[in-house]
Amino acid sequence: MVRILLILFFILSSSGFIRCSRDDVDDDHSFVTSLDPKSLSLKEEKLSHFRLYWHDIMSGSNATSISVVRPANVSATGFGIINVIDDPLTLGPKLSSKLVGRAQGFYTLSSQEELGLLMSMNFAFTEGKYNGSTITVLGRNPITHKVREMPVTGGSGLFRFARGYVQARTYSLNMKTGDAIVEYNCYVLHY
Ligand SMILES: *[C@@H]1O[C@H](CO)[C@@H](O)[C@H](O)[C@H]1NC(C)=O
Ligand SMILES: *[C@@H]1O[C@H](CO)[C@@H](O)[C@H](O)[C@H]1NC(C)=O
Ligand SMILES: *[C@@H]1O[C@H](CO)[C@@H](O)[C@H](O)[C@H]1NC(C)=O
Repeated sequence: MVRILLILFFILSSSGFIRCSRDDVDDDHSFVTSLDPKSLSLKEEKLSHFRLYWHDIMSGSNATSISVVRPANVSATGFGIINVIDDPLTLGPKLSSKLVGRAQGFYTLSSQEELGLLMSMNFAFTEGKYNGSTITVLGRNPITHKVREMPVTGGSGLFRFARGYVQARTYSLNMKTGDAIVEYNCYVLHY
């Protein structure tokens, strides 16, 4: 008799008639639906590489990088400083070379041991078919290192579903003004 009851319980619970406590909350998952990637015209994922020069201009009347937070006592590593940027992105190292977008966001000096930045910026492209598309770069940038690698965490427009990384190399740095030109090699997987 006990065995029959157990079997009956098993059948009823597996059929969902008797709910186990785990499912007692009436979860409604119907707000999430599966989509065929083709419905978003997603074809083959591809890998794109592009090289840009990032101009961080702190001096002069047309500065593109402004300090918005400065601690009362600035340490040797500048710990705590935050700059908001709208930096030109050009194809060549000269500011007068072709402008293809702007790096918009902020960086914060977030290391007490060295000159280490947290970069949080969108590369907002303005050139050709990429006009209006963006990639998002979020990562650690110890600026005295020769090569700094930062993740590409996403993108929009032609860079939807983007993932990848950038490698930053300082091209020039004016110690007096702080103006810097940095070469960015971007490796991005997207559709
Ligand atoms: C700043 O920008 C203005 C307007 O684009 C321009 O006329 C001026 O020459 C620029 N100044 C400097 C120092 O580059
Ligand atoms: C800044 O440093 C000075 C000298 O060391 C000290 O007297 C002062 O309290 C410090 N201020 C802050 C806000 O830490
Ligand atoms: C990019 O798109 C904007 C808005 O659609 C437009 O105003 C601008 O002229 C375009 N820029 C280029 C370089 O095509």
